Amino acid sequence: MKNTLRPLALAALLVAGATTTAWALQPNNEPISPIPAAKVTNPAMVELGKKLWFDPRLSKSGFISCNSCHNLSMGGSDNLKTSIGHNWAEGPINSPTVLNSSMNVAQFWDGRAANLKEQAGGPIANPMEMAFTHELAVDLLNSIPGYQAEFKQVFKKDTINIDQVTDALAAFEETLVTPNARFDKWLKGDQKALTKNELEGYQLFRDNGCVACHNGVAVGGNSFQRMGLVEPYKTDNPAEGRVAVTGADADRFNFKVPTLRNVELTYPYFHDGAADTLAEAVDTMGRIQLGKKFTPEENAKIVAFLKTLTGDQPQLTLPILPPSSDKTPRPEPFAKK
Ligand code: HEC
Ligand code: HEC
Repeated sequence: MKNTLRPLALAALLVAGATTTAWALQPNNEPISPIPAAKVTNPAMVELGKKLWFDPRLSKSGFISCNSCHNLSMGGSDNLKTSIGHNWAEGPINSPTVLNSSMNVAQFWDGRAANLKEQAGGPIANPMEMAFTHELAVDLLNSIPGYQAEFKQVFKKDTINIDQVTDALAAFEETLVTPNARFDKWLKGDQKALTKNELEGYQLFRDNGCVACHNGVAVGGNSFQRMGLVEPYKTDNPAEGRVAVTGADADRFNFKVPTLRNVELTYPYFHDGAADTLAEAVDTMGRIQLGKKFTPEENAKIVAFLKTLTGDQPQLTLPILPPSSDKTPRPEPFAKK
């Protein structure tokens, strides 16, 4: 119970301290901080990781890449309720955005991967996602002369291994950060960056206790919390959250608090993708996490604030992938009967 009580205590404190008006809000000592731009330390590795990110040959079908489900033209998500994987398999859970995911305390809704490198090996071998194996992925890359040369240049080794693949993918993902959101500009002191309506939305968000869970640089991503703190969340989705990792009953229905950065782009919402709109997600959160029913005006203000969290999207030049060789295994788009 301990870690679910803490946010409520914090929320109570915040409500008690809420004596300022929207216009007296000062952009310092806020529970949210601006996102710094990505620092690229190894541009060659990032470039290689970008190629792997877009390469559908890492899937059995030769059709699905990381970008299929985390589309960087759509906020790093697929905008589907739950993702579609190999053989049109309907995935079990909503695809979270990869934008700013390097700031997460752990990866996946239940945090079962400690970091981006550990996460990156997962989807390739997941039968419902890319349905490949690490051995096949490495054999495939080793059969492509362009990749051989590029891996050698980056890692100074003669053969490619899965560790290098996940290192490169993680290095690329670390560059997927979204600085300069209007809200960040306000945090940095630009009073004109937000409208009165948006600022009032932030005040509602802060003073009603949303910030107890959605705080820090990513406005979330840094803790696991109960979905349905004051009222149970009703869903057909069988996912049980953090308990799947820890086995502790107290962690049942605890999910990683999602980042709210770019949330305008990453609909539908929640791990089951059940909320189609931000208005619906805000209404549900108020009710089940805080026991609070927002008026339509309050809801609209909070939604207006959330839209100020959209930052500069990563500007990418589409990579040109090295062609397969005669030795490269051919894709199998459909399962053999
Ligand atoms: C078929 C769709 C699909 C493909 C392909 C896919 N992902 Fe995912 N990804 C998901 C889903 C769904 C989740 C959430 C799974 C969960 O939490 O149990 C996820 C989670 C993640 C996360 C964790 C984000 C967070 O906030 O917890 C990262 C990072 C990620 N994927 C990166 C990748 C990379 C890298 C690739 C390519 C190697 C990839 N994904 C391929 C659907 C996909
Ligand atoms: C007790 C912690 C807690 C509080 C308080 C809280 N949230 Fe959440 N929020 C979560 C968790 C956990 C999730 C993910 C739940 C899931 O999908 O299973 C979430 C998800 C969301 C989402 C969907 C994001 C996405 O990408 O799917 C939005 C939007 C959101 N919260 C807004 C708010 C707002 C607005 C408030 C205040 C009215 C609020 N939250 C209060 C923990 C909290």
